[in-house]
Amino acid sequence: MSGLEYAGRVRDIPVYPAAETYSYEGELVKLASNETPWAPHPDVLDAVQRALTTLNRYPDPEKSLLRRRIADRHGLSPGNVAVGNGSCEILLAAAEALLEPGAEIVYAWPSFSMYPHLAAMAGARAITVPLDAAGRHDLPAMAREVTAATRILLVCNPNNPTSTTIPIEAIDAFLAEVPRHVCVMLDEAYVEFSLAQDSDDSLPLLTRHPNLVLLRTFSKVYGLCGLRVGYALGSEDFRLAVDRVRQPFSVNALAQAAATEALRHQDEVARRVERTAIERLYVEEELEERGLETAESQANFSWVGLGDRDEREVLRRLVERGVIVRGGTDLGGPGHLRVTYGTRTENERFLAALDQALE
Ligand SMILES: Cc1ncc(COP(=O)(O)O)c(C=O)c1O
Repeated sequence: MSGLEYAGRVRDIPVYPAAETYSYEGELVKLASNETPWAPHPDVLDAVQRALTTLNRYPDPEKSLLRRRIADRHGLSPGNVAVGNGSCEILLAAAEALLEPGAEIVYAWPSFSMYPHLAAMAGARAITVPLDAAGRHDLPAMAREVTAATRILLVCNPNNPTSTTIPIEAIDAFLAEVPRHVCVMLDEAYVEFSLAQDSDDSLPLLTRHPNLVLLRTFSKVYGLCGLRVGYALGSEDFRLAVDRVRQPFSVNALAQAAATEALRHQDEVARRVERTAIERLYVEEELEERGLETAESQANFSWVGLGDRDEREVLRRLVERGVIVRGGTDLGGPGHLRVTYGTRTENERFLAALDQALE
């Protein structure tokens, strides 16, 4: 024992349920963290290589070039773009800037496992609203939970871990009901993968609802989670709030260079989306053939109901065969698996291991 004493509120912060790493003789099939299976574009790797030579300098604290490129791509001004060390950093900074004891944050559950940290770290109150029977956000129920004390409301679309989406029109109508003092953060980490909407469809909502923030990331379709870059589109007030509580150099130089270059390769994004949709169809059909139900996915992962099978036992047997996925218990939905789509070979290995695990 070190004798270290935690601050009271820190004792309440849940430990993030990171995917376990396993020792396995042979190549692990990693389908546990909703990553993409493809290496970054060669031009992105070149950009990182070039940036290596100036690592003796601090990165640009303003992230000027990257913010300009993101702004141009979305028809906004750089003032409306906040860039973070992963979109997680923006979530945490929003909590620090907007929440405090007495304040409330509303989000659906199960949803992204970082959300419970926000209230805990700020000493605020978390109001969770159960998803509907199909694993989708229940927006009317969420609207009913908004009070004068609500500072942040999170909507994850597509939702992690259930993979489901709600139509943009429903979100638009919901936003019209939510009072302006509530910062609504629409977490679109997986939006590019959705065939139910174009990823730009949510942009016009920013003009209609100034309290809206869209949260995006380079970790998923752009395949740069190892570098940590995410961004938020919203009001200048929001950007200034999150910038105020963070250290100025949180987004490193390699990350800025990589993300700036990655944005130029939208053809690659389209290719990845198409390949993911093909794997989604394949995995879902295969699971259905095995009598396993999945939520309707618009993401790069499936949420698989295990019925009365023992989730821990299924996970254990998959791990024994070198395949790691996430168990629903850690993510707020016991009796489920969340499985990311990998390459076809990886998905085949998952399905073969699953067959053995379910025997
Ligand atoms: C819904 C959702 N939002 C945000 C993130 C955070 O991504 P990052 O911090 O890598 O940008 C994730 C990562 O899994 C996620 O699932």
